[in-house]
Amino acid sequence: MIRRVIAGNWKMNKTVAESVAFATRLRAAFDTPPGPEVIIAPPFTALRAVAEVIRGSFIALCAQNLHEAQKGAYTGEISAGMLLDAGCTCVIIGHSERRTLFGEGNDRINRKLQTALAAGLKPIFCVGESLRQREEDETETVIAHQLKEGLNNLTADDIGRLAIAYEPVWAIGTGKTASPEQAGKVHRFIREWIGHRCGAECAAAIAILYGGSVTPENIAGLMAQPEINGGLIGGASLDVDSFIRMIGN
Ligand code: PGA
Repeated sequence: MIRRVIAGNWKMNKTVAESVAFATRLRAAFDTPPGPEVIIAPPFTALRAVAEVIRGSFIALCAQNLHEAQKGAYTGEISAGMLLDAGCTCVIIGHSERRTLFGEGNDRINRKLQTALAAGLKPIFCVGESLRQREEDETETVIAHQLKEGLNNLTADDIGRLAIAYEPVWAIGTGKTASPEQAGKVHRFIREWIGHRCGAECAAAIAILYGGSVTPENIAGLMAQPEINGGLIGGASLDVDSFIRMIGN
């Protein structure tokens, strides 16, 4: 049985004070740890302060990106070591906004995955098709390609340490969610692909999250799909009460 994961991707939102207020309220909302694994991904500037608030709690701290090099002349970039130092245990890699707005290709994403794994950070590796690709019936081809290149040179052991997020690009921030059946079908495809790549045992244990306009209203239907093991939530994770509702669902 895979433990459900509820992850909030705050993107470029919240000041340090707002992040600390959110984390304080989230921590206080549960007397005993909730069923799902709870992850929040604040902006870089708030990581350290949020780490202090959630220390020793059920909440895990996640970064939204990293640079693949250890250190050096990369103005504006953040390394895996810096994320560990700030208190992170996981990192989002390959988000469609990084792919489309910042030109990150599968090869770069592969290097980032290798860097994160080598540092002991758990990657949430995102894949997903565009609207055009879905309309042209290319969803599975595109996702297989993202998986193949993104996971290049990774061992079965490495792959077992990832979470994968299926995020159809057309559903991110648009209010258009994939139906539970549409999402479930792609999740099944991903799990089968992972099974061929690293064995049935590895595939059965890997958490595959759905992301793209998940809300407190639609989360139950999505999570009812046996192949959906959690959510990577953007917009609806910014309000703490909304996020708490999705954890409790
Ligand atoms: P959204 O974003 O929930 O606002 O659609 C999800 C994501 O980009 O991870």
